[in-house]
Amino acid sequence: MALKKERIQKEGDLVDERLRHIAFIMDGNGRWAQKRGMPRSYGHSVGAETFRRVAEYCRKIGIRYMTVYAFSTENWKRPPEEVQTIMDILTDYISKCADEIEKENIHVRFIGNLTVFPQDLQDKMERIDRETAHNPFCLNIAFNYGGREELVHACTALIREGKTDFTEADISERLYTANCPDPDLVVRTGGDMRISNFLLWQSAYAEYYFTDVLWPDFSEREVDAAVAEFYSRRRRFGGV
Ligand code: IPE
Ligand code: IPE
Ligand code: MG
Repeated sequence: MALKKERIQKEGDLVDERLRHIAFIMDGNGRWAQKRGMPRSYGHSVGAETFRRVAEYCRKIGIRYMTVYAFSTENWKRPPEEVQTIMDILTDYISKCADEIEKENIHVRFIGNLTVFPQDLQDKMERIDRETAHNPFCLNIAFNYGGREELVHACTALIREGKTDFTEADISERLYTANCPDPDLVVRTGGDMRISNFLLWQSAYAEYYFTDVLWPDFSEREVDAAVAEFYSRRRRFGGV
């Protein structure tokens, strides 16, 4: 049974088991700001608001897992001021998080190579994850995340454990997303049709949805459109 778009727009709790996990490549912040004659950093600030709104909406409609791409392992190549702006926004979010998430029933997890961050920030991220782990809606924030780095990290862990033969499950269990089902739907805003090193292993059978809408303009209605498109597709997973 396909869920109807009209219903998704009107009611909450409208997705089912087929759409447990939705992931977002939140792209287009810089262009959004530049179009308005503003610095790229302004786009990142507005994009952070969009992220909160979209997360809240996904929780409301019954999504169980959401992953957002906040900062990639390649984003360090940007000018230092821009990297600093993004770090400030994320650090601020992490600092404010603890109280708010409790209210919002969100389990916040940070995925990526977090070892590069100052120890106090790592401690905060770890504490937020632990203290919100009982909440039903899981929000993964990919921070210094790269799909290739994640696979190297998982394989290194296996080697360190002394394993010489391993299975797909062994790898999945050592990814930053361990215990999280694979994404059913990956949405990329901003008009580019590429995955930019995001959830490479996990997205083997994800449905992709690309939109030209720039992330700061992304709205609840666009989530509905992506969800409706997802429900119109037939996933075969290699079968017939
Ligand atoms: C996405 O927006 C946010 C991050 C990569 C951190 P961009 O900053 O890539 O915005 P565009 O793609 O340059 O417009
Ligand atoms: C992907 O966007 C990374 C994030 C959204 C965090 P980019 O803007 O970095 O991707 P490319 O460079 O266009 O592939
Ligand atoms: Mg971009």
